Amino acid sequence: MIKKILVTGGSGYIGSHTLVDLIEHGFEVISADNNSRSTIGMLEGVEKITGVKVKNYNVDLCNFDETRAIFEENNNIEGIIHFAAYKAVGESVEKPLLYFHNNMGSLVNILRCIEEFKIPNFVFSSSCTVYGNPDAIPVTEDTPRKNAESPYGLTKQMGEQMIEAFAASNATTNSVLLRYFNPAGAHASALIGELPIDRPQNLTPVITQTAIGKIPQLTVFGNDYPTRDGSCIRDLIHVCDLAHAHTLSIRFLLNKKNKTNCEVFNLGSGDGITVLESIRAFEESTGVPLNYTIGERRPGDVVAIYANNDKARTALGWVPQFGLKDIMTSAWKWEQYIQNQPKHLDLRAHRLN
Ligand code: UD1
Repeated sequence: MIKKILVTGGSGYIGSHTLVDLIEHGFEVISADNNSRSTIGMLEGVEKITGVKVKNYNVDLCNFDETRAIFEENNNIEGIIHFAAYKAVGESVEKPLLYFHNNMGSLVNILRCIEEFKIPNFVFSSSCTVYGNPDAIPVTEDTPRKNAESPYGLTKQMGEQMIEAFAASNATTNSVLLRYFNPAGAHASALIGELPIDRPQNLTPVITQTAIGKIPQLTVFGNDYPTRDGSCIRDLIHVCDLAHAHTLSIRFLLNKKNKTNCEVFNLGSGDGITVLESIRAFEESTGVPLNYTIGERRPGDVVAIYANNDKARTALGWVPQFGLKDIMTSAWKWEQYIQNQPKHLDLRAHRLN
């Protein structure tokens, strides 16, 4: 029987790619997204890729009655993948209460609905940010969580802990916490991808926006770290690999393969790459030179982190398919696509409507 999965934040970067992957693997999907940080253009992209028009509930998940109504209308939801959350680190430092209210309020409402409607399977978007500055790399799922570097990071830590506590008191729901490393790249069709609000903070969209001329010059935040070339080390993981890990997580839960009712997985490529190497990888993959300079360290940056992904490989059967070249070429193709499609993907136009 076809299983119905609710994806919150379906118009978002990872959410939209996951909708595509779920549809391509035979799942029925519905989305809940109020487009506060995204556009309906992404669901149009999902439809162009899959031929499926995804039903979206334009609800604020912090509103319990609106959220509950989704479950009243859909009495056969087998699983939830909860992406919807704010994720801008800098904004979270300026407006911590906005982050606590939005990210925790929506999660509480989803968990209340899970309990009331006895939803059996739950997947939560977490982040490698929960490890802080780790003492040893690569990090495994057992690497201790450190103090969060930002209110955003704190919402991911609190989210994990809330779900762990919920799991301890609720035997009917099984959960998976997915710790993403650095998601990057776009769907090969370039019909969906990352749409940063305002000026991007993350490295890959800064690279592509610099290449296309939206940003005059990329600043490498520090080249005096204790790493092989002095710049920070990260673990770039292709968004389509990440998306597929969600489908595998849902299958894992549906097939009752979990050992505990709250399992954690690292989702990274397992390879550490420096910021300067990422820049070179973009230039070599696309043939486009980047205008960059070396600047000051960015406060709060972790020096080096990458994943040990053995657990996801073994338990979920997850094998990342895409390399650095695919990440850079697909991100570049997407950047060129949005340059030519300003209207249907314009965040501000959609937010004003
Ligand atoms: C950041 C967040 C993390 C979040 C993740 C995904 C921090 C401290 N962490 O991770 O919590 O889960 O984004 O949204 O912000 N860089 C430059 N120049 C730039 C942009 C980035 O040199 O213009 C460097 C950064 O200093 C860093 C690396 O590129 O060393 C990656 O940065 P970024 O893409 O922002 O990701 P994280 O810092 O790993």
